Amino acid sequence: MPKRYDESKTGALDALHVENRVFRPDPQTVIEANVTPDDLEAALALAAADPLAYWERAAEELEWHRRWERVLDDDDPPRFRWFAGGRVNIAHNALDRHARSGNKNRLALIWEGEAGDCRKFTYYELFREVNRLANAFRSLGLVRGDRVTLYMPPLPETLIAMLAAAKVGASHSLVFAGFSARFLRQRINDARSKILVTADGFYRGGRVIPLKPVVDDALHGVHGGCAETVLVVPRVGIDVEMTAPRDLFYHDVVRRESAEAACAAMESDDELFVLFTSGTTGRPKAVAHAHGGFMVGVHHTFREVFDVKPTDIYFCTADPGWITGHAYGIYGPLLAGATSIMYEGHPLYPQADRLWSMVARHGVTALYTTPTLLRLLMRYGPQYPKKHDLSTLRILGSVGEPIGAETWLWLHKHIGRSRCPVLDTWWQTETGMMMISPLPISPLKPGSVGKPLPGIAADVVDAAGNSLPPGKGGFLVIKKPWPGMFKEPTEDMGEARACLSDYWNRIPGMYFAGDMAHRDEDGYYFIQGRADDVLNIAGRRMGTAELEAALLSHRGVAEAAVIGLPDRIKGQVAKAFVAPVPGYEAQFDGEDGLRADIARHVRRELGPIVAFKAIEFRESLPHTRSGKILRRALRDGELGVERDEGETLEDE
Ligand code: WT7
Repeated sequence: MPKRYDESKTGALDALHVENRVFRPDPQTVIEANVTPDDLEAALALAAADPLAYWERAAEELEWHRRWERVLDDDDPPRFRWFAGGRVNIAHNALDRHARSGNKNRLALIWEGEAGDCRKFTYYELFREVNRLANAFRSLGLVRGDRVTLYMPPLPETLIAMLAAAKVGASHSLVFAGFSARFLRQRINDARSKILVTADGFYRGGRVIPLKPVVDDALHGVHGGCAETVLVVPRVGIDVEMTAPRDLFYHDVVRRESAEAACAAMESDDELFVLFTSGTTGRPKAVAHAHGGFMVGVHHTFREVFDVKPTDIYFCTADPGWITGHAYGIYGPLLAGATSIMYEGHPLYPQADRLWSMVARHGVTALYTTPTLLRLLMRYGPQYPKKHDLSTLRILGSVGEPIGAETWLWLHKHIGRSRCPVLDTWWQTETGMMMISPLPISPLKPGSVGKPLPGIAADVVDAAGNSLPPGKGGFLVIKKPWPGMFKEPTEDMGEARACLSDYWNRIPGMYFAGDMAHRDEDGYYFIQGRADDVLNIAGRRMGTAELEAALLSHRGVAEAAVIGLPDRIKGQVAKAFVAPVPGYEAQFDGEDGLRADIARHVRRELGPIVAFKAIEFRESLPHTRSGKILRRALRDGELGVERDEGETLEDE
């Protein structure tokens, strides 16, 4: 059962200062919008009266090999199947369709390396590259239903490999390049990937980050039949160990392939990709998204929210390794036939104006980014954006964590010149597409994610599922299926699969994925934070259980508990409480040595993206009578919260 929400638990609201202004769109934006106020009214009316007709129309905007028989097959809830009986391939709609139309010579991708080197691809060029790799995949024995793991930084080949996999009907599993060898090994095993695509390394923060050595480490102890072929993209030109016949250079493999390749005609519900995401259990779980539903949901919402037109230059700062990168960094812009920008490196390299310089140099019209990145850049002051001409910008978007009024206002004023709408979009890896968001024509309230998009049956309810009135905080739920909703990966993923019933049974008959929210009198939603033990560190989900498991795998750790604390830049940071094995510190020149070794160990286990703000030693940790560690007591101690005598902590 969901737990009662307690504001002091997360501290999420501390960061929001009170802001009551409403920002109205400028008339030009309203007139030119893809979705005008009249369109929105009609869409809301249709979606309320007949949601399936609404989504059917959205599907009709794309090309299908065979039309669906049912818009929604709901015979076996919550295993909903969208556009059942239809045949489709997202790669056809993202590329082939454009490569054979008037969009053929339009720029699809502008990729910028950290050193400033640029590679540009038209739709036709990208189409040919994808076809070559799709043919190479086929030559290497990849067939429909297989999975390919990609351990890739932001490179054009990352996008090419995703689409090539989709084209042959294989599912892709992208592992963020900041994850450790152990993580990568586990994910290759989980996905049972025959083929792994990686790079020799990449540039970040002025340094070369080697990747191939991590891969070599990961492949020790990988299950039989996994990663039999490793394709290596030479990005930085460092010497790498190439193990024959397993390891092949990407270019040697694609060079001899033809630039024509047919798309596999997939069932609408066939798996397009898996992504792992943290929940409350000890290990991240894989959620899957399907060709048909994901494609329709992303295409529709991208056009609606970002108001994208084919003349737009759109820049999503998210790494392709996260859902934002998948949905709105890669697939969304390609489906829309727009031009998008991918950046390899660090946003502070060589200086704090890197993003603003990119906006000016490429004439970016829409920017989708995260509060953490904005808070980081804000710290350097408005003189950095001021140095650049940002007048091409029309739309600004934010995602991943509460943006808070202060950051919202900074973005609006200093980047949007008080003219561009700032759209705070709420969604999740599991939802696959934006769910609650303002549109460019909406009056905006800083700190609010606006209202549910047409076709999305969101609500704020109590534990019994009763709708709550304005001002009352409760569980944020979705009451009807939507096209981008995740599906369970095929059974071969075993334990690693996310389970739909975990999301649909906690509040019976509704989808609940862990967030608390409230609404105001106008129906605007405000996200309050997670209801569970999932942290959101710099917009990245981390389960406390996962972090604790990594701590406990160190031999000097007897007990461990992890809590989230509010942070001005990252939103939240993790603090660890550790009860060390008595006497163990002697091996490390005392407590500081042991602490440093534990920190190193966790980094090795989980990867360089994981770091604790602090690791505090305690002789013992507080427990409930049933023996569970009391994270709340630790958190209260840290935040200086006092509780009433009568309050019990047992339910924690
Ligand atoms: C969790 C999902 C979906 C893109 C990236 C994150 C939080 C997401 C917002 C927002 C406040 C937000 C929620 C959600 N979240 N967007 N606009 N305001 N919180 O995807 O890793 O699956 O995380 O991120 O807590 O449950 P994710």
